[in-house]
Amino acid sequence: MMLWSRPRPYRRMILCLWLLILALSVATLMDILFWDETQTSPSSPRRLHHPRLSGPPELEVILDSRDRAKSNHDFGLTPLSSLQEDQLLFVPSTQVRNSASPPRTGSYRVIISSAKKESAVPVLPTHGYMGRPVRLTLGGLESDMEKSALQKYGFNEVVSERISLRRRLPETRDKKCLEERYSQSLPSASVVICFHDEAWSTLLRTVHSVLDTAPKEHLKEVLLVDDLSQHGHLKSVLSEYVSRLRVVRLIRSTRRLGVAGCRSLGAARALGEVLVFMDSHCECHSGWLQPLLERVALDRTRVVSPIIDIIDWQTFQYNATQWPQRGVFDWRLDFYWETLSEQKRQHSPVEPVRSPALAGSVLAIDRHFFQSVGGYDPGMLLWGAEHTELSIRVWLCGGSMEVVPCSRVAHLGRHHPPYLLPDQEILQRNKIRIADIWLEAYRKIYYKRDTLAHFIRQSESPNITERVRLKKSLGCRSFRWFLSNIYPELHVPQDRPTLSGELYNVGTGYCADYPRGRGPEGGAMSVAPCSGNGYQHCELNSLGEVRWGPAGHLCFNAQEERVVVTPCLANQSPPNKPQWRIIKLTGQVIHLQTQRCLEAVNDEKDEQKDTGDHQRGAPQAGLFLRPCAHHPRQQWHFEQLVVP
Ligand SMILES: *[C@@H]1O[C@H](CO)[C@@H](O)[C@H](O)[C@H]1NC(C)=O
Ligand SMILES: *[C@@H]1O[C@H](CO)[C@@H](O)[C@H](O)[C@H]1NC(C)=O
Repeated sequence: MMLWSRPRPYRRMILCLWLLILALSVATLMDILFWDETQTSPSSPRRLHHPRLSGPPELEVILDSRDRAKSNHDFGLTPLSSLQEDQLLFVPSTQVRNSASPPRTGSYRVIISSAKKESAVPVLPTHGYMGRPVRLTLGGLESDMEKSALQKYGFNEVVSERISLRRRLPETRDKKCLEERYSQSLPSASVVICFHDEAWSTLLRTVHSVLDTAPKEHLKEVLLVDDLSQHGHLKSVLSEYVSRLRVVRLIRSTRRLGVAGCRSLGAARALGEVLVFMDSHCECHSGWLQPLLERVALDRTRVVSPIIDIIDWQTFQYNATQWPQRGVFDWRLDFYWETLSEQKRQHSPVEPVRSPALAGSVLAIDRHFFQSVGGYDPGMLLWGAEHTELSIRVWLCGGSMEVVPCSRVAHLGRHHPPYLLPDQEILQRNKIRIADIWLEAYRKIYYKRDTLAHFIRQSESPNITERVRLKKSLGCRSFRWFLSNIYPELHVPQDRPTLSGELYNVGTGYCADYPRGRGPEGGAMSVAPCSGNGYQHCELNSLGEVRWGPAGHLCFNAQEERVVVTPCLANQSPPNKPQWRIIKLTGQVIHLQTQRCLEAVNDEKDEQKDTGDHQRGAPQAGLFLRPCAHHPRQQWHFEQLVVP
C-alpha cells in the first residue's frame, strides 16, 4: 500500500528494478536449460566435428553376473551405489526435484559434482582448439612432472598432453596400397577398447583416431570398456566427454577383469560383425580398417593384424615398422615380432603374411568365430600371454592368422607396463595354462626354460577341465602339427642334448648372456650375473651346435675373435657351420674350426691386467676365442636349473 502511495518517480524506479530482476532470472534460467549447448570446456574442443546425435547415447554399467556376489563382497557396494559414490550419472535436474517420477533409463545426463571437481579431475585436458597445445604453467616442475608421469603411466604423459588429440600420422604405407580398392559391402566393425587407469590424452587420442580414420559405413561402434579404473579423470569427466561422441559407448565393470575378461565382456556386448580389439594407447593410420575387414570377410576364420608401428614412449615420435614382419613366440612363450629374413622377402608389399602368433595390441576377428573358438580363456589372470594362447588356439582349432601390410596402427611402446603385475607369478600362471592345455609333451621344453613356472607347477595344478573339453569338442589339432606346418622355424631341442643349462664361467663367476634388447637377429654375446630364471638357457647338442636362448634359433658363431650369435644353419654341414666341443675334464669349450677356446671377459680392466699383448681398446665385456690355456676364464660348465 505504501508502495503505491509513493509519488510517480519512485514507482517508475521500482518497476525498473522488478524488470531488471525478472530479466536476470530469465537469463539464468536460459543458462541452466542450455548449459550443454553453450558450454565450451577445454575437454570438448572438437564438438563441431562430432555434433550430438538426436538421442543422448547410452551409458551402461555392467556387473558381470557370474560373480555378482563376490564382487559385492569385494567392494562392499552394489553397482548402483558405487555409481552414486563416483558421481557418475545423474538424472537431469528437472527430474531430481520431482522424486516421484522415476528416472528415464538411457537418457541420463551427466553432471559433474562441484564438490568432487577438484579431487576428481587431476588431469584436465590441456589442448587448445584444433589441437593447438595450451602450455601448462609448469615452471621448474617440468622434469619432476615428467618423472612422476612416467612412473604413473610408463610413458611421458606430459609430452602426450601437449600433442593434439587428433594428430595425423605421416603416410608410411607402400604406394601400391594406395591403389588397392575394397568392397563397399564390407562387414561392420566393433572396436573394443579396454582400459584400466589409462591416461586421458592417450585414451582419447585412441578414440579420436578411430573415429577419424574408420569409414562411418563400416564402423558400427567404439566400445570403451573400463576395467575398474581408479583415476578420477576416467569417471564422470570421461562419461561426459564420451556422451558427446557419436557411436562411442562406455561400459564399466565393477570387478577387475584383466585383459582377457575385459575384452570378453566387450565382445559379449558388441553388435558389429567383426571385433577389433585395440589397446587403449594406439593411433590409427587412414585406411587401416578396410584391409582388415576385407581379409576377414573373405574367410571368417582368419584373424588379422595391421602392421604395428611404434610410438616412442619418451617423445611420442612415430616410428614406422619395417616390413615384412610376423609374430612369433619362443619356448618361454614370450611373444615377439620377427622381421623376415632376405630369403622370405619375395613378398609383394600388399600381400598379407601368415603369422604363427599375433600381438594383443590390435587384432580383428569375426565375432561369431571368436565366440565359437572359445573367446579368451577365462582362466587368464590380469594380463600377459593371453594373446599367445589365443594365437595357438586359433591355429589349432581351424583358424589362421596374418599381418596385413596395407593396414597400419601405431602402438605406444611403453617404458614399463602401465600397471605392473603384483607379482611375476601371474604371468607364469597364465603361461602354465598354455603349456598344460596346448603344448602336450612339448611343455617339458617350456618348463625347462622357465624355472619359476616349473616350481609353481610342482606345487599346484591349474584347473583346465573346461578348456580341455573345449579343445576336444572343437576337434583341435596337435601342437606337433603346429610345429611342423605353421611354425617349423621354432627349433625343437634334441631330447637329450649333450649339455644344457646356464653356461657358467668359473673365472668371472658370470654366465654367458645375450642382452634381450639386441634383438632376435643376432649379435655379440656378453657375460652377466647368472639369472637362474631360464633366460640364459643354452645347449650344446650332438651336432656340435651351441644353441642360445628360449627360442633356440640362434647359434654361437665366431666373428674373428669375438663370439656372436647368428641364426642357426640347420641344413649346412661342418665346414661352413660352426662346431663346438666341451672337454669335460678342463671345462674348456673349443671352437673346432679355429681350435681356439671360449674365454669370458668381464670388463676392460680384467683384460689388460692379464694379457698385455692385445691391442688396447679392442675388447669389451663378452665372449672371445683365444688360444687355449689353463685359465679359469676358459673354464665353463653347464648348470642345469631344472631336473626334468
Ligand atoms: C624411434 O626412432 C628414433 C630415431 O629414429 C629413435 O631414437 C627411437 O629410439 C625410436 N623409438 C623407438 C621406440 O623405437
Ligand atoms: C574346475 O572347474 C570346473 C568348472 O570350470 C569345476 O566344475 C571343477 O569343480 C573345477 N575343479 C576343481 C578341482 O576345482
